[in-house]
Formats: sequence, C-alpha cells, structure tokens
Amino acid sequence: MRLQQALLGPLLVSFAFAQDLGVPLSWRKFSNSRPRSERITIAQNAINAIVPQLDSSNGEFNSIGYWQSGNVYSAAANQDKSAGTTTNRAFVINNLNLVYSKYAHYDKYGVCLSILRYGIRMFFERLFSITMTRCGGHNRRSMHTAPTINMLAHAVDVWTHVTGYVVTQAQANSGRNPLKTVTIQSTCNGKTMAGGVFWTTRADDGGINSITTGLYTTLSAFLAEYTGNSTYTNAAILSANWIKNHQINANNIVLDTTSADCSTGPGLYTYNSGKYIEGLSVLAAVTGDSSWTSLMINILNSAVKSSAWQGSDGIITEGSSPGGNNDGVGFKAIFIRGLHEAWTRNSPNTALLTLIHSYGDVQYNALLDLAATGNTYSSNWHGPPQAFTTWGQLAALDVMTSNIDTN
Ligand SMILES: *[C@@H]1O[C@H](CO)[C@@H](O)[C@H](O)[C@H]1NC(C)=O
Repeated sequence: MRLQQALLGPLLVSFAFAQDLGVPLSWRKFSNSRPRSERITIAQNAINAIVPQLDSSNGEFNSIGYWQSGNVYSAAANQDKSAGTTTNRAFVINNLNLVYSKYAHYDKYGVCLSILRYGIRMFFERLFSITMTRCGGHNRRSMHTAPTINMLAHAVDVWTHVTGYVVTQAQANSGRNPLKTVTIQSTCNGKTMAGGVFWTTRADDGGINSITTGLYTTLSAFLAEYTGNSTYTNAAILSANWIKNHQINANNIVLDTTSADCSTGPGLYTYNSGKYIEGLSVLAAVTGDSSWTSLMINILNSAVKSSAWQGSDGIITEGSSPGGNNDGVGFKAIFIRGLHEAWTRNSPNTALLTLIHSYGDVQYNALLDLAATGNTYSSNWHGPPQAFTTWGQLAALDVMTSNIDTN
C-alpha cells in the first residue's frame, strides 16, 4: 500500500475522493529522534538569531518586508505557546504595540499608497497567533493583566476595518461595494461572489484573492472561538465558502485569485493552501461541522504531496532564494504554520497526524542536515548552508517552532 502510494502518489492525489493519507516512501528522512527539550532549544535559538535584525524604531527586521516581519512575531508567539514559555511575550507584544501605534489598523501602506497588500498580511499573521496564544490558555491570564495592551481590541479593530472590503451577498446582488468603484459580478462560474475579500483598499482595484480571504476567514474563526460571538462565525463561514466555491482546483490545491470581474490570476503558492488549512481547522472546531474538516484534509493531503512545490523527496523548493529576498521566500512558513494548526486540532485522526509529523520532519531534517550554519538557515532547504540572511531565517522559524509539537 505504502509502496504503491510512493509510486503512484502524483496520480492518486489528482482524484478528489482520494483519502489515502499514507506517507510517500520517497520522502527524505520523515522522522527524527531529537527529544522535545532539544527541539525547544533549536527553535528558540533560531528566533534569537533573527532578533538582532530588529529595527526598534518601527518593529520591522532588516532586509525583509513589512508583512514578512509580521511572520517573525507569529512564530515567536507560537514558540511560547508550544514550549509553554513566556520567553518571547514581551518582545512580541511590545513590538505589536509599537507598530499599531504607528499605523491605523496595522496598515502601513493604507493612506499614502492605499494598498493593504502587505499590511493586511502582516497584521493578520500577528493577530492570529496572538489570539491563538490567548486561546491556548497559558498566556491568557498574563495578557489580561498586562496594562498596556489589549490584543483582542486590536484584532477586532482590524476585523472591522477589513470587513468593509468583504463582498456581502447584497453587494454581490447589486454589483457594488460602497468603498469600491469597480463592478462586482454577482456570480463567477455560477457561484456567488459573496465572502470574497478585496486585497487592497484602492477603490478602482477589483482584485480578490485567496490569501486575503483566507486570512480574514482565519481571523474571523479565531475571534469566534475567543468571543463566542456568532457575527465572527458567520463571517468565517461566508469567506470559507467563497474559497471553497472559487479557488480549489481539480487537484485540491487552493488557487490565487478570482477578481470582482471573474478574471483569474495564475500561480500555485503554498501559503494559499496553508492559510486556508489553518482557517478551516479553527472553523471546524468553532462550528463542530465536520465537512470543514473533510475539506481541510483533502487540501492538506494534496498540498503536502503536490509537485507544484516539492520533488519526490518532499522538501519544499518554493522561495529558495539564497541571493536575495523576495515575497515568496516566506510563503512556505505560512504553509507550515497552517499544518501545525491542523495538527493541534485533529488528534483523533492518527493517519493525518502521522502525515503532518512526517512532512514536518522532512523539512526539519533538511534544514538541520543540509541548510544550517549554526542556528541559522538558508532559504534553500536543500542547501548548501550559507551565511545568515534575515529572509532565510524567517522562512525556517515556523518549521522549528511547529516541530516542537508535530515531531
Ligand atoms: C459581536 O461582534 C460584532 C462585530 O465586532 C459586534 O458589532 C457586536 O456588538 C458583537 N456582539 C456582542 C453581543 O458582543
């Protein structure tokens, strides 16, 4: 069975009904025996190695972009959650406060360029993890007693801001969003455009994509979980359905763009599937609706075996960029974070957990064996090792922190 899977994997995953969660035997080193204490240390050392790049005037890190910087905080918050520590809490919260005080709704590019693109990713990434950390329990009390911060208020502010850019059913029907000058098609391919989230605040830009909608789905689901307020649950369901209706290809991989005029954008990127996997994992828990879990598992099983971003060894090749930073370098970190979220919420499904564990170990072992210089890592997970780069380090953080749990 497993051998057959290894040989036929690319064929099998093209069938929507395939539910064989077997681990391809061709994957390189899909287990490791490092004890948990060592994994915690490896991950914290990786975080510590990027901290000196912090620009304390703006909360960003040298040599990476605004939204990429946000992902550093997500990984640091997840580290505390998984390790059961508060090592990174002040670092995360103080810098989130700083950025929030500088930019309304965390949207760095909002007024001048009117582009939500980078800001939206950054603040969502950060707030998701913070919200999740609160829900995880151990940080909740301390965050409540912290006098200077209310992360929930930040999250609600962001949610409220972005909600203005979500296509409602009424807007799909009328073809108009009050913040936009573009016409919205009521349906694309026969499915309602309700739930799609514009990727920018620019009035004449009709772009609607999976990452923005997936982030909004996830933020809504976390807020629903934390507050019990059904407004957020309904928002998460509406946007999860938009992705389900428009963005999943025949191989169960999440596509990038379907704009208000129904035009589509090319490209397969790990983070589109990853962020949706994260959102669906939370949404399934919030609603108790197992159909979201089934959808999530189909996408996850396909994504970890997709030839779009890895060869038969299973090591992610997307965003391998030893010579310089680019947007795509950090996508895979968001993907790994989504897999970790699925892992934390599906413990009865041992086949799924084994698959996530194995895939995570493939990336972990590749980084440690092939791409490491001390506690720093190349963005090319096949190696060779190189001198520290901020972007390579950023991309590795979620592998290290997730592996505390998933190994
Ligand atoms: C639920 O959340 C929405 C959106 O933030 C808010 O308008 C509403 O007042 C909340 N309801 C309750 C009961 O808190």
